[in-house]
Amino acid sequence: MTDLLPNFFFDPTKCFIGGRWVAPLGGDYLPVENPSDGTEFAKIPRGQKADIDAAVAAARAALEGPWGRTPAAERGRILTRIGQKVLERVDDLARLEAMDVGKPLKQARADALALARYMEFYGGAADKLMGETIPYLDGYTVYTLREPHGVTGHIIPWNYPMQVLGRSVGGALTMGNACVLKPAEEACLTAIAFAKIAEEAGLPPGVLNVVPGLGEEAGAALTSHPGVNHISFTGSVPVGQLIQRAAAQNVVPVTLELGGKSPQLVFADADLDRALPFLVNAGIQNAGQTCSASSRILVDRKIHDEVLARMAERYTALRVGPAVADLDLGPMVSERQRQVVENFLGDIGSAEIAARGSIQSDAPGAGHYLAPTLVSGVTADHRLAQDEIFGPVQVIIPFDSEEEAVAIANGTDFGLVAGLWTADGSRQMRLARKIRSGQVFINNYGAGGGVELPFGGTGKSGYGREKGMEALYGFSVLKTVAAWHG
Ligand code: NAI
Ligand code: MG
Repeated sequence: MTDLLPNFFFDPTKCFIGGRWVAPLGGDYLPVENPSDGTEFAKIPRGQKADIDAAVAAARAALEGPWGRTPAAERGRILTRIGQKVLERVDDLARLEAMDVGKPLKQARADALALARYMEFYGGAADKLMGETIPYLDGYTVYTLREPHGVTGHIIPWNYPMQVLGRSVGGALTMGNACVLKPAEEACLTAIAFAKIAEEAGLPPGVLNVVPGLGEEAGAALTSHPGVNHISFTGSVPVGQLIQRAAAQNVVPVTLELGGKSPQLVFADADLDRALPFLVNAGIQNAGQTCSASSRILVDRKIHDEVLARMAERYTALRVGPAVADLDLGPMVSERQRQVVENFLGDIGSAEIAARGSIQSDAPGAGHYLAPTLVSGVTADHRLAQDEIFGPVQVIIPFDSEEEAVAIANGTDFGLVAGLWTADGSRQMRLARKIRSGQVFINNYGAGGGVELPFGGTGKSGYGREKGMEALYGFSVLKTVAAWHG
């Protein structure tokens, strides 16, 4: 698989702290595995509390130095330059990510382009968030200022490392915060590469610090650090709860994006030719390791058998193989994650496997491959219809009325994304309001994932919004100034 060997235009064994490339203080490293073939091809720092302490101190120093006085327009220019440099490196970043987490190359490339888009979008937004003047008592002038939180901590996952980095760090830097980033242990390479790119683009020292390491070590040290003023986290519900507890000790705000069990509702009047590719892709993209994956397909019973047959046909054609082969699906990120999904599939009760894709016969045996699986005969309370699986598994559930469809859609702990497939405009408007979800898509799913679209959950999918202009409110604090002048 040498054709995928990444271009290390940076040193993956170093942390980036205070503008310097430094070895982890404890001298420990973690291996980097290629999930497509199980080989180890690099090592990354196993950062610890001492490294996090240094990173938080560096971020604080940056805020107290020139960064704290950098005009919004100049912050925007720097972000825009970072975006340009990301674009120049798109192929390198895509190959790195494909090798690191097993994504098919075209998905990895889409992620790198999204990272560039976040920098462009937020670069252009940096000087466009205004305060207000507030009509008040005679003799007063009252206005509001939007100020950075200070040091922001960013814990990101392995499923879309570049996209989550872009939306999280991009929004924070735009508002003038200084960031400490702890990437997921399974996916640190593009985060370290990004720090190199940001350095080359002229981001001042200490404004972005990257400390790779384990969640329970570097991650916990960051989220419990008293010098951190805001935490942004994307990952699992249990870790989100841990982080919320840690943040409570220091009374700091948290943005949590914790995944979902997102439904697509397919009514009998839907344009099935248009819907079919979305129904399936939303479940199998990135091997189903997507917070906004659509893992539940709710279908009007009148067209259930037709939709099932047409989805099954598509599933049967899906191919799984190494990232470099650029098929429909790559491997799962790790053997652990593959096993999680196998465990779900090993216990489906009275449900039935309706169709599966196929793993390429020449896929390396040590890769973490799993055939995408469509499951039918599932009731709404079934484990497969309630728990986040985080793998390429979708269930199809029939409904008999609009009310029942909404009840099933809203009948999980989550509420991140939903898709509505119907030609009836009144139903579109009605259900867009009734469905408990951070995003609703009508006659599409995901809308291409644009950086402009505010994103986040309700219920156990978390709270707070990233992406779009809305994120900038979360990455800043409002100050009210009331001046008496008589
Ligand atoms: P995780 O929640 O453990 O990992 C996400 C991030 O949190 C990583 O950077 C990790 O190092 C960090 N982390 C872990 N423990 C921490 C702690 N005590 N303090 C601070 N940071 C900590 O997720 P994991 O174990 O990789 O995946 C398990 C499940 O989580 C998946 O099967 C999936 O259901 C869900 N998940 C959801 C994601 C989403 O996009 N919403 C992303 C990744 C996982
Ligand atoms: Mg974990």
